[in-house]
Amino acid sequence: MARIHAAAFPNRRVWRMEDFQDFLNDPYVTLAATDHGFALGKTVAQEVEILTVAVDPAHQGQGHGRQVVQDLLKFTKTAANAAFLEVSAENGPAMALYLQLGFVEVGRRKGYYATTSGAREDALVLRLGVSQ
Ligand SMILES: CC(C)(COP(=O)(O)OP(=O)(O)OC[C@H]1O[C@@H](n2cnc3c(N)ncnc32)[C@H](O)[C@@H]1OP(=O)(O)O)[C@@H](O)C(=O)NCCC(=O)NCCS
Repeated sequence: MARIHAAAFPNRRVWRMEDFQDFLNDPYVTLAATDHGFALGKTVAQEVEILTVAVDPAHQGQGHGRQVVQDLLKFTKTAANAAFLEVSAENGPAMALYLQLGFVEVGRRKGYYATTSGAREDALVLRLGVSQ
């Protein structure tokens, strides 16, 4: 996961293997994965926050991203009646994926993300109601 995440987010602070170990040891965290991508979600108070979604760049555009997000929603739907996430306003592919799955924009955090080049990007907060 650390390798795929670093490759998928080349201009962001790297998440270390220990970070992923902590996520996997957290009983509130759910993992959905294929051979080339994964999504992590944390369920609290009937809402699943999608912590990250990453697909190996060599295998993007082959359905792995949609698969892992849909699986994560399926795995958490008995415990969560809504999903939310933050995504960079500059991230066209991810925005297209989430809008296609029915997420809607509910907020914007100005300059939320720092890139390694020092630039700031707004984060959009997206939400999806999940039927039981
Ligand atoms: C965003 C990401 C997870 C999508 O995963 P993927 O496996 O490449 O996407 P999929 O093949 O499942 O495509 C699903 C949908 O996403 C959108 N999409 C994917 N790649 C796209 C691209 N290059 N341009 C525009 N839309 C794109 C499309 O809506 C696509 O549906 P379609 O095939 O019917 O047009 C992947 O590109 C990635 O890891 N990017 C870098 C990390 C990242 O941005 N993570 C999300 C942060 S919140």
